[in-house]
Amino acid sequence: MTAFTVAIDGPAAAGKGTVSKAVAAHFGFAHLDTGLLYRAVGRKVLDGADPLAAAGALVPADLAGGGLRTPEVAQKASEVAADAGVRRALVAFQRGFARRCGGAVLDGRDIGTVICPDAEVKLFVTASPEVRAARRYRELLEGGHAVTPEEVLADQLARDARDRGRADAPLVQAPDAVRIDTSDMSIDAAVARAVAEIASRRGDG
Ligand code: DC
Repeated sequence: MTAFTVAIDGPAAAGKGTVSKAVAAHFGFAHLDTGLLYRAVGRKVLDGADPLAAAGALVPADLAGGGLRTPEVAQKASEVAADAGVRRALVAFQRGFARRCGGAVLDGRDIGTVICPDAEVKLFVTASPEVRAARRYRELLEGGHAVTPEEVLADQLARDARDRGRADAPLVQAPDAVRIDTSDMSIDAAVARAVAEIASRRGDG
């Protein structure tokens, strides 16, 4: 089996996590949610660690622990992700994962632009800020977090601006990425679109 990399980028709550998991399951590829790397570093920094030291010492078990899906950790993740040293410390792990045999899906912000510029498939999954904030609000409520829609939208706008505006590896669509706008799409339709794109690049059917 050879390597085959699917890079899926986009802003928060656009549906890239859902699409990534579904296409990985469909094709039997491994999946890495690279946001978890930054969230795990953010979690350690909230607990008092130095960002660079935390990024350099990250181990897989740090990604598996709970407590990474909170709004506080998301903001801190976005802050530490603006540090070029932190990003550098996480590159080798992501590239190794991407080129493993049997295929890999990585989702994040800079996968198609910086981590895997030669990925066989690049998708940019996005949606309007209002739709994304409404989705994240529902998720957080279901997860038992006490938040208001206004707080969720404000947090998201701050995170979007930081992720798009940073000097190192900002969130931007790669020129050769296929854009999937999920604002008016069902999950099934978004997944079907992504599966079709990957299948055509693999030469399936
Ligand atoms: O995908 P997420 O919401 O879990 O990501 C949390 C933060 O991590 C996000 O606001 C920016 C950062 N991030 C990044 O800079 N690069 C990535 N490839 C993935 C996430």
